[in-house]
Amino acid sequence: MLGKDFLSIATLEPGDVEDLLKLALDVKADPKEYKKALKRQVLGMVFQKSSTRTRVSFEVGMYQLGGTGLFLSSNDLQLGRGETLADTARVLSRYLDGIMARVYGHEDIEELAKHATVPVINGLSDKYHPCQALADYLTMKEHVGELKGKRLCYIGDANNVYNSLVYGGIKLGVNVTIGAPEVYQPSEDFLKVVKPQAEAAGVELAITNDPEKAVAGADIIYTDVWASMGQEDERQVRLKAFQPYQVNEKLMSVAGPQARFMHCLPAHRGEEVTDEVADSEASIIFDQAENRLHAQKALMIRLMGKKHK
Ligand code: CP
Ligand code: NVA
Repeated sequence: MLGKDFLSIATLEPGDVEDLLKLALDVKADPKEYKKALKRQVLGMVFQKSSTRTRVSFEVGMYQLGGTGLFLSSNDLQLGRGETLADTARVLSRYLDGIMARVYGHEDIEELAKHATVPVINGLSDKYHPCQALADYLTMKEHVGELKGKRLCYIGDANNVYNSLVYGGIKLGVNVTIGAPEVYQPSEDFLKVVKPQAEAAGVELAITNDPEKAVAGADIIYTDVWASMGQEDERQVRLKAFQPYQVNEKLMSVAGPQARFMHCLPAHRGEEVTDEVADSEASIIFDQAENRLHAQKALMIRLMGKKHK
């Protein structure tokens, strides 16, 4: 159920995800229709980490809905000097209509949501990137049509982006395969939770360390950076481990001509993906980036527009 907050796709019903995608398509097709949807509302955007897409798409999205976004770097807030997340959430709730936050530990976004009286949106945590997955499935829908039964192959680290794609896949009937070295495959704890849900939904979650086997016949080949924000110290070890998993023309040719290429961006070109693939006809990475705007506008309308219903 879409409750007060949006911290993960895990807690949504399939109908909620479908509704958000449908509204996103509508908002995208007819943005003027929604220009007063969040009139005079203010979204605070708290960032513990860097961002280009999330920051700009949320700020522009609020403006286009008749409100405004307020960028708040956590270093500049009193948070950086030890004010608690709980007090920050309570105080911000007295000024703002919604909070979007990008955090390291997922428990930080949970703490904000627990103490905020306004909706809290996860703009990426170490565990999940649900806004990204919403935009990704919107993009898939536009490019490959009906999602049910399609196969998304994720090549790389079983990180926040992968986790949210899995939950989205379970809700929308998309089979998700991951191709990754054993140590970077999904954890037992994660699989224990998602496997029964996938089975109940008739969705296949496959795991392999063979990149060619992983991609064969997939509708979407998706990758992300090998070292996420906060993992800079592991960069050299990861670069070595993931080398055979680069998405290049050879791997794309194994996937087949139907396969489209996706990446949440930012990309480390020449590492997880080559220029040839990122800039190929098959690549839909910039549609994906654009769809962050439309998907998040739909999300904010549903979460923050509630009080006006
Ligand atoms: N994909 C994504 O979240 O990009 P940013 O880190 O630039 O926000
Ligand atoms: N997995 C990446 C995604 C960036 C949008 C990270 O967490 O850094």
